[in-house]
Amino acid sequence: MDFTGKVALITGGANGIGRAAALGFARRGARVVLADRDTAAGEAAAEAVRERGGEARFVRADVTRSADVQGYVQATLDAYGAIDCFFNNAGIEGTVAPTVDYEEAVFDAVIAVNLKGVFLGLRHVLPVMLRQGRGAVVNTASTAGLVGSPGLSAYVASKHGVIGLTRTAAGEVGAAGVRVNAVCPGPTDTRMIHSLEQQSSPGDPAGAGERYRASIPLGRYATAEEVADVVLFLCSDGASSVTAAHYVVDGGRTGSAAAPRSFAQG
Ligand SMILES: NC(=O)c1ccc[n+]([C@@H]2O[C@H](COP(=O)([O-])OP(=O)(O)OC[C@H]3O[C@@H](n4cnc5c(N)ncnc54)[C@H](O)[C@@H]3O)[C@@H](O)[C@H]2O)c1
Repeated sequence: MDFTGKVALITGGANGIGRAAALGFARRGARVVLADRDTAAGEAAAEAVRERGGEARFVRADVTRSADVQGYVQATLDAYGAIDCFFNNAGIEGTVAPTVDYEEAVFDAVIAVNLKGVFLGLRHVLPVMLRQGRGAVVNTASTAGLVGSPGLSAYVASKHGVIGLTRTAAGEVGAAGVRVNAVCPGPTDTRMIHSLEQQSSPGDPAGAGERYRASIPLGRYATAEEVADVVLFLCSDGASSVTAAHYVVDGGRTGSAAAPRSFAQG
């Protein structure tokens, strides 16, 4: 995978999977723009790219705000003149509670980031790629975009929605040479999974993690880098015929488990 001369734009690039993707794109020659609402971590991630000899800029943006999304698109064009790869990745987990108890305000917040944020990214990046006549987008869904997960109604609904946005956009822009895919991580070793362990079993988060890992055929969480590698593949010429697809990166959990353990079960 060679991204020399390419420009990669990454939302949620300050931490976790987005940060790993930024480092991966840059290591393979891309100039990267990281958009995130976490300024301290975003600046640090951009600096980490530069320390390794890459080129990176951080743009502060809240992906739920249209003006901020237009801002990160314009900042990328001002800096580098193109957007070849767009990793539409920022997301939040919300809370763990049964649907009958789920707080309406939390539901709205999760949908705003995970679904509307992804829509706004597509809404403002795809016109650039259509003008270019090229580009590859990867939206971050989740295995929670493919199956239910008791206790995570807002998250699951948002991620199912991301798969729908992916398929729809791919059908709209394919003829112009633009590809749109989704990545579906399973449990991945970032802040988010440890938040879910804590929420599902406040007295014993480590035990919750152990029980959860036991439901994964590979016996462990994926690393952020392992998810990022699949994102890079989907953005690369190696995936030139892949669009409207979703790639699962979950250690075999969703495909093989008869009854995966949910976070609501602790
Ligand atoms: N970690 C997992 O187990 C897992 C599993 C499946 C899917 N995912 C998805 O992967 C993506 C990345 O998550 P992660 O695991 O790296 O978690 P993370 O919390 O480490 O990173 C998420 C990043 O998104 C940013 N962000 C959140 N809300 C934002 C907003 N409104 N505007 C701009 N930036 C915002 C955060 O500041 C953070 O940098 C998310 O979409 C998440 O739903 C994660």
